[in-house]
Amino acid sequence: MGNAEQSTRAGNPSGAAEFDNPTLALVYDLTQSCVIDPGCFVETIVREIRSLRARRILDLGCGTGLQALPVLQSLDAVEYLGIDGSAAMVSIFQRKLDEWQGQGISAQLRAGVDLRTRSAVASLDPLHGGAVLVSQFLQYHPVEPSPEILAKSEMLQRLVDLAGGGGRVFIIEDVMDEPESSHALLSSQWDRAVVTRYRENLDQLRSSLDQVAPRYLDVIGKLIERPALMSTMRERRRRTRGETILPLSAWQKLLGNLDRPFRMIPHRDLANFYLTVIEC
Ligand SMILES: C[S@@+](CC[C@H](N)C(=O)[O-])C[C@H]1O[C@@H](n2cnc3c(N)ncnc32)[C@H](O)[C@@H]1O
Repeated sequence: MGNAEQSTRAGNPSGAAEFDNPTLALVYDLTQSCVIDPGCFVETIVREIRSLRARRILDLGCGTGLQALPVLQSLDAVEYLGIDGSAAMVSIFQRKLDEWQGQGISAQLRAGVDLRTRSAVASLDPLHGGAVLVSQFLQYHPVEPSPEILAKSEMLQRLVDLAGGGGRVFIIEDVMDEPESSHALLSSQWDRAVVTRYRENLDQLRSSLDQVAPRYLDVIGKLIERPALMSTMRERRRRTRGETILPLSAWQKLLGNLDRPFRMIPHRDLANFYLTVIEC
């Protein structure tokens, strides 16, 4: 296993500052693993990678490896490169890799790279028929391009180019439902699912967060008592993280513009959350 290359650059370039804070990074890792259920899409991703015989995996916005690690643990003999803006997130991932020490897997992590910028993406090595994984990261790309920052549509094209002919792009992300009233309904279902998972995993959350983030544990307790607070928090988080979530039709249109076959696989119990597989 390689060591994480840590950049000296301070702060997450995306403005997603919560990911830079070591405690919040830990909270993210602990809570998201019980909310999202990263295992849900693993079987599909692993099956595709195996059938392609792809050797190289590039994971952009790898974070703490919640999505990547179970994929790596189901594969053998692949070269994995995970890149993220946040050194705090990457160091949690590196710890997990060091504890795991999977045989035949070469895993490198790199932190401090703003993956929204044209220059950073241009410097990535193409995989020539490999797998590109982008889990809950494309949402940080804006809809409109700017001289330095790639728009979502441009990034999608870069992802396809990076995977190369015969490769695959795997994108895990939520979309907005239409009309708005329907989205509101689905968001409240999502919120209920999140609170249910907090409640089911409360003992584990308590033992993990008690020392490191007692304030966050209080927040979780309040959310369990008053699940309606979830929607306020969710919206605030979206705004501060600068996320741009597209309506389903707009997302499908962007994918259609690529002119490549694609499939969208819904999450087993989170409405509006999909694995999109693009054949390159
Ligand atoms: C919601 S987390 C998802 C992490 C991981 N892919 C997973 O599925 O668990 C988003 C990750 O994207 C990273 N990120 C956000 N904006 C970024 C940027 N502009 N450049 C690089 N990484 C960024 C954050 O640091 C964070 O680790």
